[in-house]
Amino acid sequence: MATLLHIKASIFGDDGQSSQLATTFIEQWKAANPQGEVIVRDLIEENIPHMDGVVVGALRGPAEEHTAEQRAILQRSDELIEELKAADEIVIGVPFYNFNVPTQMKSYFDLLARAGVTFTYTETGPVGLLDNKPVYLIATRGGMYRDAGIDFQIPFVKQFLGFIGLNNIEVIYAEGLAMGDLAEQSLQQASQQISAIH
Ligand SMILES: Cc1cc2nc3c(=O)[nH]c(=O)nc-3n(C[C@H](O)[C@H](O)[C@H](O)COP(=O)(O)O)c2cc1C
Repeated sequence: MATLLHIKASIFGDDGQSSQLATTFIEQWKAANPQGEVIVRDLIEENIPHMDGVVVGALRGPAEEHTAEQRAILQRSDELIEELKAADEIVIGVPFYNFNVPTQMKSYFDLLARAGVTFTYTETGPVGLLDNKPVYLIATRGGMYRDAGIDFQIPFVKQFLGFIGLNNIEVIYAEGLAMGDLAEQSLQQASQQISAIH
């Protein structure tokens, strides 16, 4: 059975533009995969701890020195990685807040970055350890950044996912959402791009 992992990260929940476009994506995906299963991981609800001494000790420190809190963090990291590995396709809502990803998405990435588990270093550089699979990023922004040379967000997300082995990435942009009439046009274009995927 095919599985689609939907990673949500809008602070507006289902009302977020990235969530609404992801809903359109999921409807199309379900039509193409009637037996398929959709798994939702809401990073805002997930309440992943920010990287600090406790978290880094859980992810990189010796297991015999872990506290109960660190064992729980490591287990959560394992579960989130397994979920990514198990999915056949992944759709990620990527809202743009103050020029970057939601802070919760950064914390999520921090739990995914595990030497020997999701990436390794070789003599020729880093190698991602996840099997490649289609990943769709739904990038929603109030302004226009994509072609302006000032997008520090999607290049970062692509770099991170590629680092762990996921580099089959298509980006669906919905920009100018705070720019009057442009918003409607932008959302329509994004929906059309989504419709052409499955
Ligand atoms: C706290 C906050 C910060 C934002 N910062 C930016 C920004 O730096 N640049 C921009 O173009 N839009 C910015 N926006 C607008 C969002 O990108 C826009 O609302 C988008 O729809 C967010 O995705 P979402 O609706 O899925 O949450 C910001 C919105 C919020 C709430």
